[in-house]
Amino acid sequence: MKKTFLLLSTAFALFTNCKNEKAPEQAQEPTKTYVEESHSFAQPNKAVITHLNLDIEVDFNTEKVSGTATYDIKNNNSNTIVLDTKYLEVQSVLANGQPTEFSLGEFNEQLGKPLTITIKEDTKTISVNYNTTNKTEALQWLSPQQTADKNHPFLFTQGQAILTRTWIPIQDSPQVRITYDATVKVPVELMAVMSAENPKEKTKDGVYHFKMKQAISPYLIALAVGDIEYKPVSDRTGVYAEKSMIEAAHYEFSDMENMVAAAENLYGTYDWDQFDVIVLPPSFPFGGMENPRLTFATPTVIAGDKSLTSLIAHELAHSWSGNLVTNATWNDFWLNEGFTVYFEIRIMEALYGNDRANMIALIGRQDLTEEIEALKDTPEATKLKLDLKGQNPDDGMNSIAYDKGYLFLRTLEETVGREKFDAFIKDYFNTHAFSTLTTEDFVEYLNTNLLQKNNITFNVEEWIYQPGVPDNQSKIVSDKFNNVEATLQKYLDQNSVEDSVTKEWTTQEWVHFVRNLPEDITTDQLAMLDNAFDFSNASNSHIAMVWFEQAIKHNYHNNNVDKNIDSFLTRVGRRWYVETLFRAFKNANRVDEALVIYKKARPNYHSVTAGTIDKLLGYSPE
Ligand code: BES
Ligand code: ZN
Repeated sequence: MKKTFLLLSTAFALFTNCKNEKAPEQAQEPTKTYVEESHSFAQPNKAVITHLNLDIEVDFNTEKVSGTATYDIKNNNSNTIVLDTKYLEVQSVLANGQPTEFSLGEFNEQLGKPLTITIKEDTKTISVNYNTTNKTEALQWLSPQQTADKNHPFLFTQGQAILTRTWIPIQDSPQVRITYDATVKVPVELMAVMSAENPKEKTKDGVYHFKMKQAISPYLIALAVGDIEYKPVSDRTGVYAEKSMIEAAHYEFSDMENMVAAAENLYGTYDWDQFDVIVLPPSFPFGGMENPRLTFATPTVIAGDKSLTSLIAHELAHSWSGNLVTNATWNDFWLNEGFTVYFEIRIMEALYGNDRANMIALIGRQDLTEEIEALKDTPEATKLKLDLKGQNPDDGMNSIAYDKGYLFLRTLEETVGREKFDAFIKDYFNTHAFSTLTTEDFVEYLNTNLLQKNNITFNVEEWIYQPGVPDNQSKIVSDKFNNVEATLQKYLDQNSVEDSVTKEWTTQEWVHFVRNLPEDITTDQLAMLDNAFDFSNASNSHIAMVWFEQAIKHNYHNNNVDKNIDSFLTRVGRRWYVETLFRAFKNANRVDEALVIYKKARPNYHSVTAGTIDKLLGYSPE
């Protein structure tokens, strides 16, 4: 860990942010130093927020959130504090309860506008009265028609990476950690839940109080409002969903407690008390989002057979890698996601065995090969440490952070041995709990505490700072997948399908089967497979998605596949799925067909999905 001691007079000392690091005796007040960051206007080294008290009302008629954000601040001798805002209207600002001067700076397409507030030496709190506008990017307002029950509207937020500033004025940098309280008023027929201590039932007056007592990064502040109910899985785990989904969600996620226990057994206690999941309407733009205490999830993981629940293991793992130990900047995003994929797969291995874990790992390995191929003109983008300056971080975050990050850690584990590696990871989480790290901080910690300590040489720099995948990569092997490949080859050779071998296949095997159809497969061969296995009407969202990708690529049109692709893209807004399918249309020179579907589907998409697909298809709304 880098140590920078900067003793400025007797007033304060600046040093790094290790939880367990003791303040040097001469320091009066420990103050963290924040590294330079290009995705926030805030200047936390001058004045920083430490606690948020949010008091808002959610109005479904005007589709606006309005109210007051009050902050406790720590002022390091500055006469201004800067917050990030984007598409917000600011009515008034107070400092220590008194009106103060403020100004909104020039608009930047990616970052929004800095809100600069005049403060004094003794300013302890600032308060911003504001409302969101209809350009907000974090909020998605859904009509009853877009929900499962179809009776009431729904609202959810998505903060990562830099969208929290579009619904709360805030210092929107992952380095800034705050605790929060919130009072949220919603229509009485709806319940509000946040990434905080949550209600289990609706209140009579539609007013909800929340508390998040652990310090979290602003991208993890989250809110969902809808006609939802709660069903516990264990004392500390459970699900929120609309009525028509609650039983299915509860069944699908019934291993949640076992997952938390397996995770704790690997890398230490779960620090957030409660681990719940809310199943959102299908337009939710991600598979899952690790909002602390309350993971937000897509309903597309509810397959009926628990086959896609590695997503829950993934979001749970973020309770350590991401929420407890956080990437300092979005250039260090792999620290969040690479560790999380590694941890996710370890949880899956602990609960369901090596076969399942290796199949998940190999699906990711194929994603990595495909991502590197897709990025062949911009190899820079295949480095773990990114340089996203001037870019929307969202555009630069691809599966490299996940799958190359995973492969790096797995290779490291195999090199040093599991026992040493696990002890190291556990220490890493403990030492850095509730703090943020840059890639460089991590490399230093790794060198000191794992490699030098055990006298091991490892090409860390190559893995992190060079494009592509180094030669010493771990070779992941799965007998199950070898068998899938042999079976596929046999079907194609004999031009017929006998179905007994596939009877016991899991979702992962089917996904592998479909993704590994040969490039030169004919539509007759596709029809043969489809007639045998009914891929075109698959109810499992992952199998359906990879089959639709093949159908689009090979111009295959049987068995209602076109109609099913159309309705999938119109209903589901999960960006990974939607982007894969629209990209397949584009690569097959079928953009015109894609646009017909997209124009219809776009109103159902959250801004992050719409933004990605607009760019992919060269579409501009209006
Ligand atoms: N934190 C991510 C989602 C995210 C990443 C949101 C970047 C905004 C910017 C989440 O944990 C995630 O990785 N979700 C994946 C899950 C999968 C890897 C199991 C998803 O949504 O598909
Ligand atoms: Zn993740």
